Order: sequence, then C-alpha cells, then structure tokens
Amino acid sequence: MKLTRTADLWWKNAVVYCLDVETFHDSDGDGHGDFRGLTQKIDHLHNLGVTCVWLMPFFPSPDRDDGYDITDFYGVDPRLGTHGDFVEFVRTARDRGIRVIADLVVNHTSDQHPWFQEARSSKDNPRRDWYVWRDQPPPDAEKGVVFPDKEKSLWELDKKTGQYYLHRFYKHQPDLNVANPEVRDEIARVMGFWMELGLSGFRVDAVPFLLEAPVQDLPDPHDYLCDLRAFLSRRNGEGVLLGEVNLPYTDTMKFFGSADGVGDELNMCFDFIGMQQMYLSLARKDASPLTHALKERPLPPRDCHWATFVRNHDELTLDKLTEPERQEVFAAFGPDPDMQLYGRGLRRRLPSMLDGDLRRIKMVYSLLFALPGTPVLFYGEEVGMTEDLSQEGRLAVRTPMWWDAAREQRHDDDSLLSWIKQLIRAYRDCPELAWGTYELIDTPEPAVLAHRCDIDGGTVIAVHNLGDEEAELDLSSVDGELTDVFTEQPVKPKFTLEPYGCRWLRAWAEGVQVSR
Ligand code: GLC
Repeated sequence: MKLTRTADLWWKNAVVYCLDVETFHDSDGDGHGDFRGLTQKIDHLHNLGVTCVWLMPFFPSPDRDDGYDITDFYGVDPRLGTHGDFVEFVRTARDRGIRVIADLVVNHTSDQHPWFQEARSSKDNPRRDWYVWRDQPPPDAEKGVVFPDKEKSLWELDKKTGQYYLHRFYKHQPDLNVANPEVRDEIARVMGFWMELGLSGFRVDAVPFLLEAPVQDLPDPHDYLCDLRAFLSRRNGEGVLLGEVNLPYTDTMKFFGSADGVGDELNMCFDFIGMQQMYLSLARKDASPLTHALKERPLPPRDCHWATFVRNHDELTLDKLTEPERQEVFAAFGPDPDMQLYGRGLRRRLPSMLDGDLRRIKMVYSLLFALPGTPVLFYGEEVGMTEDLSQEGRLAVRTPMWWDAAREQRHDDDSLLSWIKQLIRAYRDCPELAWGTYELIDTPEPAVLAHRCDIDGGTVIAVHNLGDEEAELDLSSVDGELTDVFTEQPVKPKFTLEPYGCRWLRAWAEGVQVSR
C-alpha cells in the first residue's frame, strides 16, 4: 500500500523544537523554568509553526549532567512541576496540533539512582547485574572517553565491592546492562508509562553506546532496537524514535534497520555529518563540502528520515572532520580556546559565530528548512540567542530563553523570528521538500548550493549562496515557469544571487496538475 503524507508518518514534515523546561519560562519567579511556564508559552511555539516539542530530561536528578543523570525514570523533577503539570502541558500542546517527545536516557542512570545504590551494596545483590562490572578494567579502558576534561577512563573502581563498573560518560553515570532482560523490560515499562501520559515518542540518547554491551540472548544488538521500536509501535502506531547516532553515514544507516526496505529501528537519525560539513562550507564560503556530504548521504529506508540541525544542546561537535578541517572551522568561528570544548567542538551559537550578520544567519536557516530531512531547532535559535561563555562547558548554550527578544521581534517583518516563521510556513506548504526526491543542480559558482525537490509533478528549487560575493545563476535547464515561493512573483531563469542570498522557487511545468 502506497500511502504517503499521512499522519502516521507525521515526522517526515515535522518541525521539531528542543527545549529544556528548566531554562524556558519560569511561571512562579523561583529562578528556574517549569512546566506551567512552558504551558503559558505554548502559543509562541504554535505561532512559530512548531509541530513537535522535544523535551530535554525533566526527571528527578542530582543535576550533575544537566538532568542526563536520572534518579527516577517515572518521576518529574519537583522543581519543574508535577505529573499533573506535565499532563496539562502535553494536552495543551496537542490542542495546538503539537506532539511531544522526550529524551530517553537509558544508557546509564545517576549513581544516586536507587537501582545503582542497591547494585553497589554487594556482589550478590539482585540488582548487581543491572550494571556492568569487571574485576579488572579491560586494556582499552581509556579509549573513547567522552568527556576528556573530567574523565580518564571508562571504568571506575567501586571500593566497597572491589570491582569496576562501566561508565561511558561521567563516573557518576554508571551504564545500565541492557543484556539483562529485566533491564530491557524496565526500559519498555518506562516508555509505556510516558506514552500513556501522552508522549508521541522519544529522542533516544547515545544509541550506539546503549547497544554496545553484548546482548547475550539476542544474536545482534540491533535486534534490541528493533524490539524497542516494535513495542513503541504496538503501544502507539504513530510513535517515533529519533536517535542520537554520531557515526559515519554507512554506520548510522544500520540504526534505521531495514526489514524488506522498510525501517524497523529508529525512525529518524540526526545528520551529524551533514551538519559538520555545513560548518566547513560556511567557514570556507564554499558549498562543496556540504554538496559532497549530500551526495554521499544514503537514502534512509522507507518511512525513515534524516533529522537536520544547525545547533543542538551539546558542544557543536566537529569530531568527524579531519584535524586540519576542524582547525579551519575553529579559526573561522571559535578561535579563542575558551570557545572550544573537548578539543572537538564549539560552545557557541550560530549568530555570534557569524558576527551577527543577519543576512548570513537567515541564509543558514533557509538551508535548514530547504534541505531534505526533518528540521530540528534548539530553543532560542528563532530569536538569534547567543551563548554565555561565563557558564561552564556546554551550559554556555543552555542559558534562559530570550523572551524580550521574542517580544521585540514579533512585529518586525525583517526580524529573524519573522523569517523563521516564514520559512516554516513555506516548508509546510511545499510537500516536495519533506516528501519528495531531491537532486543537486550543478552550477559553475563554487559558493552556491542549488537543489531541487520533486513529488507528484511538483518541483521546488532552492539556491543558497554561502559566499560573500554576488553569484550568477542560470536555471534555464529547469522545465516550466519559475515563481518565488515567498513573494509568489515570477522569476527569470537567469538572475543574480546577492552575497549570502537564498531563494526558494517553484517550477510550474505546463500541463502538470500539481496535487497538494
Ligand atoms: C548525550 C546528550 C548529552 C549527555 C550525554 C550523557 O550525548 O546529548 O547532553 O551529556 O548523552 O547522557
């Protein structure tokens, strides 16, 4: 059955917006945001055109990794509200046609989680096997440390029981043992619980690490991801798993799964490679790194999609660039060592990296919505929020939402906020972008990225000038009359694109009935 563009595949043209309840809006003036505050601000998200909110962890936590260290997967951090407040938020969002997903952080728990407290109490505790223990750390214990500024090894000695436990991230985040069927059942129960309270799915944290422990009674760890997805779909047919998988394309592809060409693991994977190549392109003012990435990027299986982003809540990782490429991006966008993190990323937001050049910033967001994939925004991007380097590490980009800027920009037609609203409206109005096939169009201008998206006889062409000089475009090879998507005015096939300029064009081929 060939059903496209249905609500079952709603994520294909979703606009995802990631936020942390704690920094979004404070309803009671106690100094940090809360669910009631978020609910009060739902119309900001609705007016922007957001269709899916991704909540960063809101669970009880000692907050040593900004909530990614959880002590109760079934709870709500009392500083943020209650289950009642959570349900009211989800209901209010749904009332505006906005679905809600949340971080599923089950690679590890906090070391304060009662499960770990029990597990570490003795070697024969029934929870012992919920975590991963060894008498000696393996020889490669120091390889792959994620936070090299704080950790030296993936294994930590538990003095009382004399064994080492695995922690992929900080030592206060012991890894759960998903090889244990009880742990797997518990993870399913957690997902079932929040879906019953209204969630439409999850952003799955650190997926490759979650699957790395050998899952004994399954021949392939991917079978576990398959099980999770099947469980989710049984409970909620439109449920979605959006995975954090930062690997080369061919490795990431495995996480979509593929039974007879239809994905059966993650519905969406973030395009970390495309994101990094985009920054390299911006640094060089040359579209080729991004063009090359888009050519190399495999098509996901049916019913799956890439998720695209300009910024997320972590360091802007450049780990998949070569060392000289990374240094180029550092030199262009974060030369000061204080702007860099873990030797591989930047703790800056886009507007400051581009020296506040609004034309250039607008062009980058146009790219985000025009390129194939589901766009994911990080809160504050819509109003041009910048970082605060006086905050520690990644917290530099997780400061409170700029509501004053949102108020100022709302009625200014030239503001970034108005531009992002227009982009979202156009993106939702051009099914070609989300549902269609895409092709890159060759141009002689190295700074220009041009591509077309087609579906059911409809064609949208987008051109982006990543350079600071005018570029001459000739789209005479495209069939049909061209009109500008935003102004609906006719456009001649030969035109000049201003520095950092962009255009979305619709090609009206004669005699073709466009079904929209
Ligand atoms: C993921 C999150 C990051 C967190 C880490 C540990 O990489 O994106 O913010 O610190 O997992 O949970």
